[in-house]
Amino acid sequence: MASLPQQSAPECPLCGGTGWKSVELSGKANRVARCDCRIALRSQRLLELADIPKRYEHCTLADFTTDFSGAHRSLAAARLAAGRFVEEYPVEKTGLLFIGSIGTGKTHLAVGIMQELIRGKGVPCRFCDYRELLKEIQNSYNASVQTTELEILRPIFDAEVLVLDELGAVKPSEWVWDTVSHILNSRYNDKKTTIITTNFPNLPPGEMQAPRGSASDSARHAARGETLGDRITERMRSRLLEMCRVVQMEGADFRQKVQSANFR
Ligand SMILES: Nc1ncnc2c1ncn2[C@@H]1O[C@H](COP(=O)(O)OP(=O)(O)OP(=O)(O)O)[C@@H](O)[C@H]1O
Ligand SMILES: [Mg+2]
Ligand SMILES: [Zn+2]
Repeated sequence: MASLPQQSAPECPLCGGTGWKSVELSGKANRVARCDCRIALRSQRLLELADIPKRYEHCTLADFTTDFSGAHRSLAAARLAAGRFVEEYPVEKTGLLFIGSIGTGKTHLAVGIMQELIRGKGVPCRFCDYRELLKEIQNSYNASVQTTELEILRPIFDAEVLVLDELGAVKPSEWVWDTVSHILNSRYNDKKTTIITTNFPNLPPGEMQAPRGSASDSARHAARGETLGDRITERMRSRLLEMCRVVQMEGADFRQKVQSANFR
């Protein structure tokens, strides 16, 4: 992992480039504290290292709206859980497992949490798309590719807070799965926080009920009888339930909602 900047802006009027500013405490001697310029530089650097996809850079907890007509009440609860997670971190380090159908805002909330942890608390976070990760691991086995598996995985192992987006979206081959379970298990053993999003229902393998007239994505998986347990093994699903609190998100696809509002 690249190191964080040590320098301060030399023209900074608060600290004159030292990185420390004095703070007046009423009736007491002046104290020094980290200067705002240093904090801003650190946030900026952490954001660069976080690898948030361009498409999601705008996502914050504040702009996650829950007061539109037809908003499912699980969305307000999910927004609240995200806010509480940020507030309580790092005293409470249990991660979150956002589960829900397509377009309910799972990735938006996960990125919103990253933004607040970085800007508000200076916590190093890392975004990882599960499908990309599997591709990169697979690719690293190819002799003509220069990057080694370890180079790819190091930031995923090391990240203080990891967002693993779209878990289960691809079913890995057995040997790639070994690596994925190694990542999740070692993060668990190191007591590192992992935030996960998935479309697959939180059920053991083969325990899917037939859907009743719903066209949601998780219902389509249900139609194929696929559960989170089917996709990531029951052993890993129960490990995740130890690592994370489940946040269920229901409702319509927000993307389609916006589209239909624009073209009305
Ligand atoms: N409640 C919301 N308020 C504001 N924007 C939202 C809300 N829900 C979703 N969005 C926006 O809608 C788009 C889709 O949301 P997002 O990608 O987070 O959904 P998702 O649940 O991760 O979907 P998928 O299952 O396809 O990964 C994003 O651009 C996101 O910013
Ligand atoms: Mg998503
Ligand atoms: Zn300064």
